[in-house]
Formats: sequence, C-alpha cells, structure tokens
Amino acid sequence: NANEISTYSFRNIKILTIQKFGNKYLIPTKYMLSQQTIDALRKPTFDVWLWESNEMLSCLEHMYHDLGLVKDFNINPITLKRWLLCIHDNYRNNPFHNFRHCFCVTQMMYSMICLCNLQEKFTQVDILILMTAAVCHDLDHPGYNNTYQINARTELAVRYNDISPLENHHCAVAFQIFSQPDCNIFANFDPEAFKQIRQGTITLILATDMARHGEILDSFKQKVDNFDFTNEEHVTCLKMVLIKCCDISNEVRPMEVAEPWVDCLLEEYFMQSDREKAEGLPVAPFMDREKVTKPTAQIGFIKFVLIPMFESVMKLFPQIEEVMVQPLRESRDRYEELKQIDDAMNEKKKSENLTMGGKKK
Ligand SMILES: *[C@@H]1O[C@H](CO)[C@@H](O)[C@H](O)[C@H]1NC(C)=O
Ligand SMILES: [Zn+2]
Repeated sequence: NANEISTYSFRNIKILTIQKFGNKYLIPTKYMLSQQTIDALRKPTFDVWLWESNEMLSCLEHMYHDLGLVKDFNINPITLKRWLLCIHDNYRNNPFHNFRHCFCVTQMMYSMICLCNLQEKFTQVDILILMTAAVCHDLDHPGYNNTYQINARTELAVRYNDISPLENHHCAVAFQIFSQPDCNIFANFDPEAFKQIRQGTITLILATDMARHGEILDSFKQKVDNFDFTNEEHVTCLKMVLIKCCDISNEVRPMEVAEPWVDCLLEEYFMQSDREKAEGLPVAPFMDREKVTKPTAQIGFIKFVLIPMFESVMKLFPQIEEVMVQPLRESRDRYEELKQIDDAMNEKKKSENLTMGGKKK
C-alpha cells in the first residue's frame, strides 16, 4: 500500500573498534603524511583521487590540528580519530555522495580558510563550525535527492514533512554520532559552547539544500557591499555561502580532477531517473540518460550557479579570482567547445541517417 506510513528508525550508527587507535605505534607509516602532501592539501589544486580512505582520514585529522582546533578547544586527539572513522563509516558507497565527496568539500573549505585568511576574520568557533559542518554535511546520503524522497513519499520525507528531508537527516546523523561519548569531539565543551556549535552546524548543513540557493545567495548579495564582520547575521550568511561554495566546488579543481566527478554525478542521476521511470514518478530531463551529456550538464550549472556565487564571494575576498573563479571560467569555455563538437557530430549523424533512409527507399 503506497499510502502506508511505516515507522522510521535511524539507520544504526556504526560503532567502531577503539583498540585500533589505542596505541599510536599501530598506525601504519603509510598514513603518515609527507610534507609535500601537507603543503598540497592547502590548495584547491590538491588531487583528491590519489588517496584511499585511511589517507583521507589522516588529512582531515591534520586539518583539525593545523587550524589549531584541537589545541584551542582541548579536543582529545584519539576521540578526533575515532570520530572521523565513524564519519567515514556513515557515508554510503554512492557514485557521488560518498566519503570522497565529504573529503573534497572539507578540503576545499580548508583551502578557502587558508587562501582567504579566514582565521583573521572569524572566531575559532566559526572555523570549527565551518569544518565540522563540511565533514558532516552529506552523512548517510541515500543517493536519491529530495525531490525523489518527496515524490516517492519515503520514510525520510514523511519524517521531515518534505522540508529538506536529506539535509535534516545528514544533520541528525551527525548529532547521533556526537551523542556517542567515544566519538564526541565536543566532550570537553561547556553547555553554552556546545549549543553554539550545534546551532551553527545545523544552520550550515541545512543551507546545503540547493532548493534554497536563490534565497541564500540573494541574502548574501544584499549584505556583501556593506559587509560587517562584527554583525552576526552577516557572518552567518557568509558561512552559509562558504559551505555552499565548497559543496559544489568540483569545477574549481583542475580539469583532470574535476571531470571524473561529472561521471559520478551522472551515474547517481541515472540511478535516480531509472528508478523514477520504474516507479512512475516525474523525471527531470537533466537526469535522463537519453537526454543529458557531460557538457550540457555542466555549462548551465557553471554559468548560472557557480560563477555568480563565486563572483559575489570575490567581492569580499579578491584573492579567489585567480585561484577559484578563473578555473571556473576555463571549465565553462572548455565545456562550451566540447558541446560544439557534440552538436556538430549529431548534425552529421542526422544528415547521414537521412541519406541512408533515402537510399533504402
Ligand atoms: C532532484 O530530482 C528531480 C527529479 O526527480 C529534479 O527535478 C530536481 O531538479 C533534482 N534536484 C536537484 C537539486 O538536483
Ligand atoms: Zn554535498
């Protein structure tokens, strides 16, 4: 019965083995980062494909140490390791929304913190919120988007009344994980500090729902020309835009790093559209394997979503133009050339088909 509401319970949070990290000498040297890796990690040019999970975990751990978060907030370094491992175990193996995507978003956040000297503008609480929201922002993503959840009336949509069901779920899973003492990096925080981190993290994760893109960007544009780093509302809005930038920042990366992500995203889209067809639900043309190509998928997104958002952030941080906006413009130009080639080939095929059809008769 399609209208039946089943009881929803959280997917069990995976508990991890603790002994593994009880003794630091048990950590294989392979997961010790070289100075070269540590330096490269600070830039958007970092090759996110070279690393297996344990190496990405070491990188994330390094970022928390390097930003001074472990020291300033008295985070237990072993709890940090356990928390990250638990985070890893609670991302699913989707084509796109997987642990490597979590790593990419967090690494881009770290790059922006370094590039824009955000530690001079923000408090360490803000930096902790930005990093932690990035790490947690797609936890337990099922690989099918909000529209699917709502149209298919899934347990998640029912639980969250169709209001950003996925983002609410990612965030709830994040705080389920923090509720386990072994994984609670905030264990040493006083209740007021925890409240602040929790509120900030919720706000940022919920801001990653692309259905709110226009609303959030408009609100930022209203503030950017008179931006005030002492105004809490301004700072919150900037943090929301920053996590949004990082979440969809693949095209900022070098072409060789960025392009495979498009295949991953299309694979996930096709999985959804195939299921929507099978279940008689509406299908979006940009997710349909019969209709979409890599260039058509990317051109509009880069021109109308990515470039306008990064250009408005550029007003506050002009240093991102060369490092982030220019690569976006180059990617747009490259995909436009690829589309022209695709179009020319399709024209040729069409006329060949016409000639062949003529001969047969
Ligand atoms: C989610 O999927 C639907 C098709 O079911 C599509 O119309 C919508 O644009 C998608 N949303 C995003 C953010 O990709
Ligand atoms: Zn994401």
